[in-house]
Amino acid sequence: MPPPRLAPSILSADFSRLAEEIRAVERAGVEVLHLDVMDGHFVPNITIGPPVIKSIRAATKLTLDTHLMIENADRFVDEFASAGADMISVHVEACPHLHRTVTAIQARGCKAGVVLNPATPLSALDDIIGAADYVLLMSVNPGWGGQSFIPRVRDKIAALRETIARGRLSTLIEVDGGITLKNAADVAAAGADLIVAGSAVFGGGDAQASARGLMAALKTAR
Ligand code: DX5
Ligand code: ZN
Repeated sequence: MPPPRLAPSILSADFSRLAEEIRAVERAGVEVLHLDVMDGHFVPNITIGPPVIKSIRAATKLTLDTHLMIENADRFVDEFASAGADMISVHVEACPHLHRTVTAIQARGCKAGVVLNPATPLSALDDIIGAADYVLLMSVNPGWGGQSFIPRVRDKIAALRETIARGRLSTLIEVDGGITLKNAADVAAAGADLIVAGSAVFGGGDAQASARGLMAALKTAR
């Protein structure tokens, strides 16, 4: 298996210098940028929407991984796709017609991901995993950057990796929340393909160096 890719989350970036922050992780060799969309309903915080994503699209060629923490995602899939998202993920807890949502994302030419909160069991994937391009396992309760990784999610990653292997599926595993230089290799070893890091990249100092350090740590895992 190739080492997992790093997807820096701009949630902890300096939004007044967003283009520069993005340039820094591009220079580090990152391929994917994680964009956290929060609506103040599904999660207790409000962040960015399609206009900001459209501006980011104009500023970078990186793959835009758009994590929707919103209610009524169905209503917004077209807008996010038109804004330039390449990957769009939606929460199983917020999407009553999940198969329809996943299909709508793919119909717009985007990769579709389904997201599980830490307390949502893997069994919630049973009837959707075959349709999704990737599964995003939350390793914090969504809402803010800078929280601590919930340790039991490690076993969840490994169990999902086993399910994917057993079913001979090509579904990718993304993990999001509380990933730092200390635990990145361990999360990678558990079986993640894409690792999100917000505060560990943009939280202080040099984003380029921090991203490089994390990528090097991921390489040691496999
Ligand atoms: C949490 C967001 C994450 C967040 C991760 O609700 O979905 O993407 O930015 O931030 P860190 O890496 O600081 O936990
Ligand atoms: Zn996220």
